[in-house]
Amino acid sequence: MARKTKKASPYLYVAIGLIAVAVILLVTILVLSVTEYGEPGESSVPVSVGSPIPSEPNESQTPSVQTSSEPPVSVAESSDESEASSQPVSVEPPVSNAGDLSEQPETAKAYEQTVGKAYSIDMNPYEQYVCPADPMEYVFLVDASHTLAADFEPADLVYIKDMKPGRPDYYSKMRAVAEKALEAFLEEGRMYGIDDVLVSNGYRSYGSQANLFNSYIAEERAAHPDETDEQIEARVLVYSLRPGTSEHQSGLCVDMHNQKSTDLSFAGTEAAKWLEANCYRFGFILRYPEDKEDITTVMFEPWHFRFVGREAATEMHELGMCLEEYCDYKGIR
Ligand code: DAL
Ligand code: ZN
Repeated sequence: MARKTKKASPYLYVAIGLIAVAVILLVTILVLSVTEYGEPGESSVPVSVGSPIPSEPNESQTPSVQTSSEPPVSVAESSDESEASSQPVSVEPPVSNAGDLSEQPETAKAYEQTVGKAYSIDMNPYEQYVCPADPMEYVFLVDASHTLAADFEPADLVYIKDMKPGRPDYYSKMRAVAEKALEAFLEEGRMYGIDDVLVSNGYRSYGSQANLFNSYIAEERAAHPDETDEQIEARVLVYSLRPGTSEHQSGLCVDMHNQKSTDLSFAGTEAAKWLEANCYRFGFILRYPEDKEDITTVMFEPWHFRFVGREAATEMHELGMCLEEYCDYKGIR
């Protein structure tokens, strides 16, 4: 006699289905929460792993001491910043989408031959800025021995095209020539998949620099109440410079990266590596390199790029010199 097979109730299938959906949802939520909160914490003076000294001050810090008329607005960056790019960087030049590049300016073609690397973007709109007529015009130091007056402000400041949204107006400009060169630099980067780097700081007035510097002094003093004024200043001076001695006031440099704020972890990203390896082709230098800290007296800043013009930047790249060494080499005082 054939046994009658008992059929499972349709309610059982529905219940199993619902449990499966719930499990998938739970796993997704867990994965998302780990990703969201897995980034390093944001202290106002972040200390990087392996480094006894703090990195560049957190950009979200609001200067606490006001010495200028700038509004004490919060400069906190938006929380939906993109994460560091995980896309691999092409070693070979990418297929350009800039159209016919056979009409590059003659000086750009000659330069491509010299360095053995072709531009992937049309350099026609940028060549005159990247390669200024006087190749040494922008080669000078701003430091404790080469100071800028309190009222010095470049006359040709313009808004930076690739500025991080939400940054205050007074950090969002730089000199026109450097800004155009920067546009070319970042446009080339996008050809290589470096498409999420934005500028967080450009020109800073004497007053802004004073606010920032004083706020770090206050912060270090609170953290080290037993130290002398000299000790506190020494702590700050490796990452923030006194007003009048910061090249941010020159309008020729920017801090740029693809993270929530400036942090040494940026150095390990493909974006940082590409920027460092290619900046000279657009007239920029990494101003505070890791292996030159004893000469610059400023700690490694993988995000801080200074415009000097292509000829000087390329020569510095080939000679392996930082700006202090190059100015010495060229007899620039
Ligand atoms: N963070 C750089 C060194 C400055 O203050 O100019
Ligand atoms: Zn900087």
